[in-house]
Amino acid sequence: MNPQLDPERLPRHIAIIMDGNGRWARERNRSRIFGHREGSNSVRDIVSCCRRLGIPYLTLYAFSKENWQRPDREVKALWQLLKRFLKSQLPEIIEKEIRLCHLGDPEGIPEEVAKQLQAAIAKTSRYDKLTLSLAINYGGRQEIARAARRFAVDVQQGKCDPQEFSSERLSEYLFTAELPDPDLMIRTGGEFRVSNFLLWQLAYAELYITKVLWPDFREPHFIEALCEYQQRELRFGKTSEQVRQAKSRTGWAGLI
Ligand code: FPP
Repeated sequence: MNPQLDPERLPRHIAIIMDGNGRWARERNRSRIFGHREGSNSVRDIVSCCRRLGIPYLTLYAFSKENWQRPDREVKALWQLLKRFLKSQLPEIIEKEIRLCHLGDPEGIPEEVAKQLQAAIAKTSRYDKLTLSLAINYGGRQEIARAARRFAVDVQQGKCDPQEFSSERLSEYLFTAELPDPDLMIRTGGEFRVSNFLLWQLAYAELYITKVLWPDFREPHFIEALCEYQQRELRFGKTSEQVRQAKSRTGWAGLI
C-alpha cells in the first residue's frame, strides 16, 4: 500500500472514462487502433491495482452507444480488441477471483463478443474480490429510459404501484441495480464532460479529470487520483461544520 494512502478511506466504487487513445497514437504517428491496443494494457494495470488495494468495484467505459458513429474500421477493431481481451485475460480474472459484469444493451453487440462476454460473466459469477463492470454498448440516457419502460411494464402487469415510484425504485431497474453508486469518477484525456456515462449513478461522485492520456495512465497516476480523492472533503450535502462533528464522533462512516 502506498504510504500516502489511507486504507480506511479508499473509494468503494471507481468508474473510469478511458479517453485519449486516439491522441496518444497520433502523437506517435500511429493509427487510432494502436492507441486502443495500448489502452488495453492500461486496463490490465488498473484492474490488478484495484484488486491489490482491495477496491471492491471498478467500472470501465469500454464502448458507448455513440462509439458506433466512428469509422467502420475502428469500430471493428474495438470489438476485436474486446473479444481478445476477454479471451486472453479470463484465466487471470478467474485466478484473481474477479467477478465480471456487463452494463449496457446486449442487443447490437457482435455475436462473437457477446458469447465471450456471457461466458466470462458465467464463469466468474461466484467471485467477489473485485466486481469489474464493463460498460459496453452503454448510454446513460438510454439506461434511464429503459428503466422507466421496465417500470411501466411492471405497473401494467399490476406488479407495482406508480405512487411508489422513487429514486430508490428507479435504481433497481438500472443495469447497476446490484452495484453501489461510484464514489469517484476518473476521466483521462483532459475533457470536462461525462459523455453519457452513468448519468444517474454519478450524482454524488467526486470527479477527477487528468490530462494524462489513457494509454499512459498506469498505477502511479491511479494512486495520485486516489490520494487527491482522500484529500477532498466529502460533504454529502451537509455543512462543513456537520462534517467535522460527524467525523470526530464516528469517523467517516458517520457521514454516509
Ligand atoms: C476513447 O479514446 C476510448 C475508447 C472509445 C475506447 C476504450 C477502449 C479501450 C481502452 C481498449 C479496450 C478496452 C477494454 C476494456 C479491454 P478516444 O479514441 O476517443 O481518444 P481521443 O479522444 O484521443 O480520440
